[in-house]
Amino acid sequence: MFSSSALKKKKNSPSLSKDDFNILDSYITIEGRKYHNIDGLGYPLPCDESEASRLIILHFIFRLIFGGNFSSPVSDLLSAGGMTVLDIGCGPGAWVSENCKNYPKSTFIGLDIISANFPSEKFPNAAFIQCNVLDGIPFPANTFDFIHQRGLLRAFTSKDWRNVIDEICRVLKLGGRVEFLEKDLKFINMGPIMKTFSDAMFMESAENDINPYVIHKLDEFLKDTGKIENIETIEKIAPIGSWGGRLGELIFRNLFNSLNGLRGKLLPILDISIEKYDSLLNQLEEDVNKNHTSYRLVRIFGQKKLDHAAYQINP
Ligand SMILES: C[S@@+](CC[C@H](N)C(=O)[O-])C[C@H]1O[C@@H](n2cnc3c(N)ncnc32)[C@H](O)[C@@H]1O
Repeated sequence: MFSSSALKKKKNSPSLSKDDFNILDSYITIEGRKYHNIDGLGYPLPCDESEASRLIILHFIFRLIFGGNFSSPVSDLLSAGGMTVLDIGCGPGAWVSENCKNYPKSTFIGLDIISANFPSEKFPNAAFIQCNVLDGIPFPANTFDFIHQRGLLRAFTSKDWRNVIDEICRVLKLGGRVEFLEKDLKFINMGPIMKTFSDAMFMESAENDINPYVIHKLDEFLKDTGKIENIETIEKIAPIGSWGGRLGELIFRNLFNSLNGLRGKLLPILDISIEKYDSLLNQLEEDVNKNHTSYRLVRIFGQKKLDHAAYQINP
């Protein structure tokens, strides 16, 4: 339906002024929103305060849908204390902030490529570090008891996923737990407006070599390491719009804000004016309610094998 040719991109790219660039800052501003400007990073969402607020609300939505901040059986161990926990791509740190308060005897580290949105509140048992996880996790082998990662679907190619999972296996202790939460980019019951945005998001992913179906590959990636066992998956449906009650309304507002944030990236793909984009966005609520649109959320979690044979290097 839409062409992503270089010509179209050029013609309809949101206008950039000289002031929009500050490569020393690693940020770029497009249509008033701040994005990462880091070589080789395809991650399309903004990294400004408004995106941080959206992510904090999404944190509460996820917790409500899954009935907790994680599904791995680690709660008792975290309460007992002495556990070391890593949250990869922590964003504004809502997951770390909440868990470090819930489990004051364990230690939590949040890691993100952007530090600007780290919480200003200081916690005695939490720290945040700025790091590109694609350069490796800056900790020695066998450091963490639990590693959590959520919402990095749009940040990694399939090859990146395998590399990050290898790194996770390296820094996870024997018997340690790993858990991912990702959204299936394929929406359920799409009307024409949702389909327009969905097609554009798929094209944006393809341009950055992101596999939007990677969520269905995570189990395979974990198994392929030969180091993770007891893998389990939990799926939940997130209704979008008031047809799904108060929760659906919150999810709709969050998706609306996310599409607002993606505007700078999707406009050149859709090849439409800003006014048309906003008009489509304003028709989205009716579209999702009429069609009972939803998306799938998947938590996948497992445990690093205790079996030392799994770590022997073949001669
Ligand atoms: C959708 S947000 C999710 C944030 C957080 N996990 C949450 O659930 O609220 C993805 C986060 O991953 C970060 N990110 C993207 N690529 C990254 C990379 N290569 N290394 C570290 N962080 C990265 C982004 O800066 C952003 O904060």
